[in-house]
Amino acid sequence: MTFPASTYTQRRKGLIAQLDKGLILLLGNDEAGMNYGANTYFYRQDSTFLYYCGIDQAGLAAIIDIESGETTIYGDELSIDDIVWVGQQATIRDKAAKAGITAVQPAAKLADALKSAQSKGRAVHYLPPYRGEHQLKYWDLLGIAPQDQKAKVSVPLIKAVVAQRSIKSAEEVIELEKAVRVTNRMHLAAMRGAKPGASEAYVTGLVHSEARAGGGNLSFPIILSVDGQILHNHHHDKVMKEGDLLLCDSGAEVLSRYSGDMTRTFPVSATFTQKQKEVYQIVLDANMAVIDALKPGVPYRDMHDLSSRVIAAGLKELGLMKGDVDEAVAKGAHALFFPHGLGHMMGMDVHDMENLGEDYVGYNDSIQRSKLFGTAYLRLGRELEPGFVLTVEPGIYFIPELMDMWQAEGKHAEYINYDKLKAYRDFGGIRIEDDYLITAEGGHLLGDPVPKTVADVEAVRRAAL
Ligand code: GLY
Ligand code: MN
Ligand code: MN
Repeated sequence: MTFPASTYTQRRKGLIAQLDKGLILLLGNDEAGMNYGANTYFYRQDSTFLYYCGIDQAGLAAIIDIESGETTIYGDELSIDDIVWVGQQATIRDKAAKAGITAVQPAAKLADALKSAQSKGRAVHYLPPYRGEHQLKYWDLLGIAPQDQKAKVSVPLIKAVVAQRSIKSAEEVIELEKAVRVTNRMHLAAMRGAKPGASEAYVTGLVHSEARAGGGNLSFPIILSVDGQILHNHHHDKVMKEGDLLLCDSGAEVLSRYSGDMTRTFPVSATFTQKQKEVYQIVLDANMAVIDALKPGVPYRDMHDLSSRVIAAGLKELGLMKGDVDEAVAKGAHALFFPHGLGHMMGMDVHDMENLGEDYVGYNDSIQRSKLFGTAYLRLGRELEPGFVLTVEPGIYFIPELMDMWQAEGKHAEYINYDKLKAYRDFGGIRIEDDYLITAEGGHLLGDPVPKTVADVEAVRRAAL
């Protein structure tokens, strides 16, 4: 158990206090077969289940009774056959006790408990399903068909969970620091291990190895490519060569399942080319401008706009954009080069609580998601609060397909020098991403600094080659 029993007890009390009546159903995750049942994917418990019940084990569910305050875990202890294959482990009862839960029932009793509550007219609050088996279970247990589940999901429960999980406690921050430190090592491994003639897959292996050595695993599939303009590129089949830029976006989750998420972009050669250096510096300026401005009360949407203006102003200096910078950003012209959001909440999920609904996590009644291309991908727009943990990840990308499409449409032609873009067609992309905790004073870098100035990155690369 990551935290003392009192942590889980307090969390459940805090959850109940926000809700009126009925039962809360929390489904844990099951094992999932890759190509046959016994050959499973890496097991990952549901983060909300883990947050309130602490047990990192497949095949469990919990009911929290809002009126009585009692929590019951449903699951089956290991059979002798299981023990032969996977070894003896602490019982569910022992694990539950460590989370302050004394009631444990066999899995088969879950349906009875829910049906009995429903027959008395009691509400059962449930969260949005994100796995097929959750949908089947809601269907079986609650009688709600998959196509109706989204509409009947409990918005009060979603909001209550988001309110609690958005504010990271001191003990959670310790776990996040651990995760980001492992993440730091993953990035240093990439920066030290990349070399002309080696494959992207080879460096991906070095990065993954650090995540496993940190005791946990990856917080998301590694993005590592000389084609950094492909935002989430999971192909690692190219061979690096002199003059390439390598983008690595990766993170670890530690055993407590808290995660890290960083990006570094660096030259495969010992130094950046002049052209690469110029674009890199703009991304770094955008990253640093936001970091300097982080503080409670600031809408993250304003930070996104700030980074967009730094990017547009820098690209104007290079002659790739033109016209009034503020106007260009307000109209969304910069999104040709920066077509994603500045960052997102991070916690047990790398995009924290995304399964509960991005708009509940990142927006509120006063700050709503933009409809503009690019800014619409911003996952966090609302005002920052102490205890938020988030990423700062601006980038500049030259995406040939997007450039061709916009040029053919004459899109934002008053702000973009399409003729000059030809020289950047094969440039790739640059992103720089760091993880920050919002405190009363401003932003606190999680983990240790990993080189990101041009000089510091080149120093690491020189030493590596
Ligand atoms: N790891 C994907 C992202 O940076 O959000
Ligand atoms: Mn990332
Ligand atoms: Mn990220």
